[in-house]
Amino acid sequence: MSGNFETLLYEKDDGIAHITLNRPDSLNVYNIKMRDELYQLLEATRDDPDTRVVVFSGAGDRAFCAGADLSEFLTAPSPVIARQVRFDRDVWGMFLSLPQPLIAALHGHVLGSGIEIALCCDLRLAADNVRFGLPEPSLGIIPAAGGTQTLPRTIGRSASLEMLLAGRRLDAREALASGLVNRVVPREALLKEAMALAGKIASLPSLAVRYVKEAITRGADLSLDEGLDLERRLATSLLEAVVGMRPAAG
Ligand code: COA
Repeated sequence: MSGNFETLLYEKDDGIAHITLNRPDSLNVYNIKMRDELYQLLEATRDDPDTRVVVFSGAGDRAFCAGADLSEFLTAPSPVIARQVRFDRDVWGMFLSLPQPLIAALHGHVLGSGIEIALCCDLRLAADNVRFGLPEPSLGIIPAAGGTQTLPRTIGRSASLEMLLAGRRLDAREALASGLVNRVVPREALLKEAMALAGKIASLPSLAVRYVKEAITRGADLSLDEGLDLERRLATSLLEAVVGMRPAAG
């Protein structure tokens, strides 16, 4: 896979892909070019059997991502906006379709699309200087990359409404308490910790890892009965793949 992108950096080592949002001068804001490049890279990553886990981070000291590029967004002619809306749906669907665990390493400003990217990930590590917010309503818009659905599923309805309607921003301690992030670490240790976590996951049998992600992610939107059935089917399929046999009943 080519590592030659304008808005992203891409590296892969020992089954761990590392994607860096790379527009540090403008706080890694999400523009049309980044959207197109992310789509291309996520699709290739999804189909790469050698990638066992993916880490996302932001370049520079100040932000993981400060949201949509407002210079582009607020001046775009309507066909561009239409294209953006259509493509947004695709890129977020693509994020959620990846079978590998995704880890977000978050620091500084994590706003708008930035928090939505983080919410598409499975595990979130935050630096102690992180600051989360969803400023969309103050701009007269609503999140369009899944935020109204992924945020309440992560921190609950009322806390989500407070962030969106009262402009509440969460610091690292509040994000940890709300369940938005798994862990808070010192800024200078963020990437090292994210890579260590990725290494731990990459060392596990990859099919078991993928099935755990599928069972938990898909199961969250199913009834308990359906979820148990999904788990049973995945467990059977894993056993068949590993030892080439069907398990005994029970
Ligand atoms: N779109 C385009 N450019 C942006 C941007 C955005 N969403 N957010 C920041 N930038 C640019 C700034 O224009 C500035 O560029 P410049 O150095 O060429 O002037 C650079 O990033 C640094 O931002 P600055 O505002 O100077 O940093 P700050 O530390 O004073 O403030 C923020 C940081 C995040 C609080 C502030 O930039 C901000 O509120 N940004 C908008 C966030 C937002 O509404 N995002 C959209 C969500 S839908």
